[in-house]
Amino acid sequence: MSEHGSDGQRPRVAVVGGDGIGPEVVAEGLRVIAAADVELETEHYDLGGHRYLADGTVLPDSVLEEWRDFDAIYLGAVGAPGVPPGVIERGLLLKMRFELDLFVNRRPFKVTAPDDQGTTQSHDFVVIRENTEGTYAGEGGFLRKGTPHEIATQGSVNTRFGVERCIRYAYELAESRRNHLTLVHKTNVLTFSGDLWERSFHEVGATHPEVETAYNHVDAACIYFVQDPQRYDVIVTDNLFGDILTDLGGAVSGGIGLAASANLNPSYSGPSMFEPVHGSAPDIAGQNKANPIAAILSGALMLEFLGAPEPARRIEQACDACSDLEGSTSDLTDAVIAKL
Ligand code: IPM
Ligand code: MN
Repeated sequence: MSEHGSDGQRPRVAVVGGDGIGPEVVAEGLRVIAAADVELETEHYDLGGHRYLADGTVLPDSVLEEWRDFDAIYLGAVGAPGVPPGVIERGLLLKMRFELDLFVNRRPFKVTAPDDQGTTQSHDFVVIRENTEGTYAGEGGFLRKGTPHEIATQGSVNTRFGVERCIRYAYELAESRRNHLTLVHKTNVLTFSGDLWERSFHEVGATHPEVETAYNHVDAACIYFVQDPQRYDVIVTDNLFGDILTDLGGAVSGGIGLAASANLNPSYSGPSMFEPVHGSAPDIAGQNKANPIAAILSGALMLEFLGAPEPARRIEQACDACSDLEGSTSDLTDAVIAKL
């Protein structure tokens, strides 16, 4: 990682543009990274729904093995019309998250609101979403499928190990910020998994006495996201609640076109993956219409994780300065680069 890393080499990044607007926004993200004077060694992989439709390939194990030697994966978006639900989601995205053990999904948000004097104040908070368990684990199945008596179950897998490591990451993050951590769950109904989360939350919390804690049921958290997001600093929650809450987070902080995410293996024993929260938006693909900011900010999260916090911060500030602008994909990217 040249001047930025520990091993004296440029970071190796596997680039998966994916489907729809994915390749466009990722190309713009790479353009901004280059303009911030960070050199990456990139390798492009042609994967996604379009590839599956062309030759049935989703994510070969050989590619996954190659990726283990990379520092990061930079992904645009995956999903194409005509691909049955689950094929790409489970076969590519979730396979990456699970096989590479990317157990933290870190999604930062910035909201703005006028204060008492009418001056615009901005507030940032971050959702730490558990990324390898819960209802995403794939536990469940059908009985008597297709008959009037069919049964479908979809369980939620919560291991002590998985819950605890995610919560521990969230406490450490809170400690590096404003020392405030909120657990979001639904302990009043999900009395088994909620109990495990709550106990883990308090037990790990005992080793972080300086972090003030709070708890919200997920439905209440939805109201607070809209009406009072200022109450949050770091939020930790399970996989499905985190999925839903972070779309809402995007919606209340300038739109999903700005929402970035990092799928992290915090031990650095393999590559982490960086992607915008938004999807492939096939309806506007190829028209230079997609907002590239979420992908650019995901690139900044990648640089930060790769040990280049200074260019990451410059990119973030440039994006902040451009977040209200309108224009084409390339215009917005040019505007960000001009602010670097
Ligand atoms: C996300 C996406 C994915 C998820 C889908 C595409 C499987 O919505 O990254 O938030 O549910 O995690
Ligand atoms: Mn989602």
